Amino acid sequence: MTDDRRVSGIGDPSSFATVAWEGDARSGRVVLIDQTKLPGEFVTIACGEVETVWEAIRALRVRGAPAIGVAAAYGALLGAREGLIQGDLSASRTGVLKASARLRTSRPTAVNLFWALDRIDRIAQSIPDDVSVQAFFQSLLDEARSIEAEDRAMCRAIGRHGAALVSQGQGILTHCNAGGLATADYGTALAVLFTAHEQGKGIHVYADETRPLLQGARLTAWELRNRGVPVTLICDSMAAVVMKEHKINLVIVGADRIASNGDTANKIGTYGVAVLAHAHGIPFYVAAPSSTFDLSIPDGGAIPIEERDPKEITEGFGKKTAPEGVHAYNPAFDVTPARLIAAIVTERGIVQPVNEQNIRSMLKST
Ligand code: MRU
Repeated sequence: MTDDRRVSGIGDPSSFATVAWEGDARSGRVVLIDQTKLPGEFVTIACGEVETVWEAIRALRVRGAPAIGVAAAYGALLGAREGLIQGDLSASRTGVLKASARLRTSRPTAVNLFWALDRIDRIAQSIPDDVSVQAFFQSLLDEARSIEAEDRAMCRAIGRHGAALVSQGQGILTHCNAGGLATADYGTALAVLFTAHEQGKGIHVYADETRPLLQGARLTAWELRNRGVPVTLICDSMAAVVMKEHKINLVIVGADRIASNGDTANKIGTYGVAVLAHAHGIPFYVAAPSSTFDLSIPDGGAIPIEERDPKEITEGFGKKTAPEGVHAYNPAFDVTPARLIAAIVTERGIVQPVNEQNIRSMLKST
């Protein structure tokens, strides 16, 4: 399944895209940073088959809601290849739609995956039969590139809006990784922190390590250090103590899916952090692009929550840490109710208070 995957070591982490398309229609590949190797190794993989992209998303080589949307959009293009080589538009179209359907099964919670694939499907279905198969492919590639470029712009705008919520010298807690690695570039929750830092606000970030896969320790701490933002890593179970010790002035996290009423799915443990923030009178913010909102569902109860292999808990990273055969429960996400969220930072501005009316009017604005 992964036989088309080429791995290469690369140099400067700050000058490389999280996900990119490289090459022409016949031989192009989806190139992505293999995040499972960070922070020890900084390597990219080049995926030339739909199945390899599926596996990369499933195994969290590429992860974070917006980034998996971008990866899936490029991945679906690989489905066009056989038809392209045969010069057969109809086969190319069928191949793309089949690839899209397959990629939809990779992970269930982040709505950005489905949002991006819906966009690719719409283009694939709307192109007339009389265009050349090359032009068909180019339209799809343009759409995938737009998804990537729009995400970059949305992240920068989220950073600008969110930095207004941050005051001089504040201590800020974040959970999981909502940085450049989780998006096309720069991040959502971390974009707010990068921008506040660049504005000279003298912030100090506390990063939850984020059991069981340690996105906070491996990825968030790495990204913050790369950009020179002061960061202290803590175990997830220490969040209450740092709040009680008055080290935290605000909490900010990303999101995988936000329901119409503002209930927000994010990495497992986020709900607990929101409850703790509420108990300590600390504002809890979510940062997310408009592509993370799902108005088709009324509240968080309808968000599908991914359940992952219990081995991630009992023998994560190859070391057995629990007795053989013990039962473990491993939901990858939880839902924070809207009432615990002080505001949602989007690329279009800040939704506050968080309710359906404000969410709908933000999404209608441009
Ligand atoms: O399982 P992951 O690592 O894909 O989970 C990622 C998160 O929960 C992020 O916080 C979320 O996708 C927002 S990314 C901007």
